[in-house]
Amino acid sequence: MKQWWKEATVYEIYVRSFKDSTGDGLGDIGGIISKLGYLKKLGVDVIWLTPIYESPEADNGYDISNYLRISPKFGTMKMFDRLLKETHKRGMRLIMDGVFNHTSDEHSWFLESKKSRTNKYRDYYFWRNGQKDREPNNWVSFFGGSVWEYDKDTRQYYLHIFSKKQPDLNWDNKAVREEIYAIMKWWLDKGIDGFRFDVINFISKTRSLRDANPSRGKKYADGSKYYKNGPNINKYLKEMNMRVLSKYDIMTVGETAANIEDINATRLYVDSRRHELNMVFHENNEIHSDKKTAEIATLLDKRHDKFKWTLPNLKRTITAWQEGLGDYCWDTAYLGNHDYPRIVSRFGDDKKYRTESAKMLATLIFTLRGTPFIYQGDEIGMTNGDFKSINDYVDIGAINMYNEYLSRHKNGRAYALKILRKISRDNARTPMQWDDSRNAGFSKRKPWIKVNSNYRTVNVEAALKDKNSIFYYYKKLIEIRKGSNTMMYGKYRQVLDKHPDIFAYTRSLGSEKILVLLNFKGKATKFKQHRDVLLNGAELIIGNYPESENKYELRPYEAAVYVICSRHS
Ligand code: NOJ
Repeated sequence: MKQWWKEATVYEIYVRSFKDSTGDGLGDIGGIISKLGYLKKLGVDVIWLTPIYESPEADNGYDISNYLRISPKFGTMKMFDRLLKETHKRGMRLIMDGVFNHTSDEHSWFLESKKSRTNKYRDYYFWRNGQKDREPNNWVSFFGGSVWEYDKDTRQYYLHIFSKKQPDLNWDNKAVREEIYAIMKWWLDKGIDGFRFDVINFISKTRSLRDANPSRGKKYADGSKYYKNGPNINKYLKEMNMRVLSKYDIMTVGETAANIEDINATRLYVDSRRHELNMVFHENNEIHSDKKTAEIATLLDKRHDKFKWTLPNLKRTITAWQEGLGDYCWDTAYLGNHDYPRIVSRFGDDKKYRTESAKMLATLIFTLRGTPFIYQGDEIGMTNGDFKSINDYVDIGAINMYNEYLSRHKNGRAYALKILRKISRDNARTPMQWDDSRNAGFSKRKPWIKVNSNYRTVNVEAALKDKNSIFYYYKKLIEIRKGSNTMMYGKYRQVLDKHPDIFAYTRSLGSEKILVLLNFKGKATKFKQHRDVLLNGAELIIGNYPESENKYELRPYEAAVYVICSRHS
């Protein structure tokens, strides 16, 4: 069924790095308002804002201390209202980050719950007794160390899947769910257009919270099978949908870490007949496996190099999801966000073929079946940060893992930095590069995180002046997708499956067929014509090179999209 949120292009704004309007070095709401025209020009339909609520900022706002207040660092509620109005005025929509798996440890619920074992809020969180000389279980936190933190006063531990500043909420407690629904309603009544739900498939934990199998003699182990897609997750999502979401014309997208084995579980979240969520980021852990490795804190081991992505893996993973979700389910199409390195540094070539490969990757995002998500800066081909020392890093994940590694390997500094430069989340969090003036036009003051030194050439102003820029290629892709039901709704089928360097697939609807050819190699690559790939009479609708005579050879990082079978056949 057609839906506006299936046809929309979403743009993720990592608020602190987007645009500073107050001169304190931190992006803010005023900055976003000043750039709405830019987003409209690009063709964006929906803006997703990373958290701007009151927060001690242990994890850049993913630790919320008050859900109904805007952090003064980003502005005021009045400014937020203006942003919402201005966004709507331009025909765009705005969705917020709903971080409800955990709160900040400075949230009033947690402060209360910490007061005593019998406090009314105690059961809002997971408090447990320790085992003899150790934590209640052996699970590892995403940011390193145990998921349990000891509280001296009440002599119990509390659970935090992320940092100790992010205690997990107990969704099994009905009062917690009621509080969360009320918060959602409050924002939706204000007029926001939906939510991106942070780690939403972690909200239901198995009751026993039992030990995970330890790996390779490590003290802590991955316990995710006891909290990922847990026993009551579908019940809670259904309830949330019935009580709140279904009452509004909104878009919902859940963040649900998954790998191919989780397709069945994922289908349940997004099957439109079940009424849970519209779509999820299933995170494609096979593609992103180095991040997964990083987050379970085995990062910085020499083994890390084994976890590089490969094209066969990427093809296999994307195809499995595209085919596996089925007609009643809707998907997301994205390659990166604020938790991954930059896509062009990762899957493309951020030097010689930066422009070509950035366009090729965009072609992939916009021609898959699913709502496309752009991460800020990808539309101008921003690259990984150029951090020199550990002092340049800000991310709690990067710093914890660096320290942990150095505690085990005294002489490991250089190696640790080398790996962080490749995989750290800070790579994608550097300030948006608006122009070639000081601080890339992001701020008048020193930004909260180092600006990438390539801002003099890679910036929005330069992109807008160049009609062949990555920006205009994105804009064209957005327009083409919007005008093509086949691109939005057509069936996906992989072709040239075994080709080592080319990712190719068709999208078909009725008698129309679109063929997408993507060369992931920095070299010219040939392919054979056969039944599925016959380009005689095919019409090129978009590509990152001028049309070529030799249709059966792709140039370095070439993307070519053809209509190969027309409506009137
Ligand atoms: C996912 C968010 O995208 C990430 O930035 C954050 O650290 C974790 N969830 C915890 O909220």
